[in-house]
Amino acid sequence: MLQIQNLHAGYGKVEVLHDISFSVPKGQVVSLIGSNGAGKTTTMRAISGMLKPSSGCITLNGRAIAGLPSNRIAQAGLAHSPEGRRVFSTLSVTDNLLLGAFPRLTFGREKGDVTGDLARVFELFPRLKEREHQLAGTLSGGEQQMLAMGRALMLNPDVLLLDEPSMGLAPLLVKEVFRIIGELKKRGITMLLVEQFAAAALEVADYAYVLENGRISVHGPAEQLRNDPAVKAAYLGAAH
Ligand SMILES: Nc1ncnc2c1ncn2[C@@H]1O[C@H](COP(=O)(O)OP(=O)(O)OP(=O)(O)O)[C@@H](O)[C@H]1O
Ligand SMILES: [Mg+2]
Repeated sequence: MLQIQNLHAGYGKVEVLHDISFSVPKGQVVSLIGSNGAGKTTTMRAISGMLKPSSGCITLNGRAIAGLPSNRIAQAGLAHSPEGRRVFSTLSVTDNLLLGAFPRLTFGREKGDVTGDLARVFELFPRLKEREHQLAGTLSGGEQQMLAMGRALMLNPDVLLLDEPSMGLAPLLVKEVFRIIGELKKRGITMLLVEQFAAAALEVADYAYVLENGRISVHGPAEQLRNDPAVKAAYLGAAH
């Protein structure tokens, strides 16, 4: 479904991703694990078009998307819930969600049942329903995180990129976010997941890649990585 081949990307003259290749098969959850600064967010940005890759091939449903503007990549079916939320603070919760459906309301992506999908997002995130008319900027950090996820879902994406969806959340809400990721997986949504809680990410993921200094060092079925002594020591310790 989503394939990344020999991807190189960075900022200015500094290359951060050095020849990365991996794939996210349809219906699966794939996790990218790595320390701070390893290049996880950069990978997500290069896929969704927030950052132009310097070279490499990215295909979504067989279609080459590397280097396209991010609105075209969204039209092709890829949604990105970015690190640090980035909701539109002066718009209401509902308007933020509808903006996620923009490519369906204009052109380029099948419209489907936008109203029904909005209701389903509110069902998944009851806190957002309670605050549907509230300005996004007045939501708590955790609520904004949920809004970012909900907005990404409103594209009705073929592939959903989730960058640290539980960042900054209280333990109870972290649990809730992982419950929702599990629910989305049951619904067959294909996901690429980056999470500070690597152990929890490996519980929900089917397959995982470890990113070290912009290169993939280890990869395998999530269960295998969960039991890999080196992965355990580096990423699944008490601090994670
Ligand atoms: N906008 C930017 N301009 C310049 N360098 C950047 C920018 N964003 C990230 N970098 C650098 O790119 C490297 C990879 O950063 P990236 O954000 O992809 O890491 P990450 O794996 O997502 O880390 P974290 O777990 O802290 O979110 C880091 O060295 C970082 O300093
Ligand atoms: Mg990051």
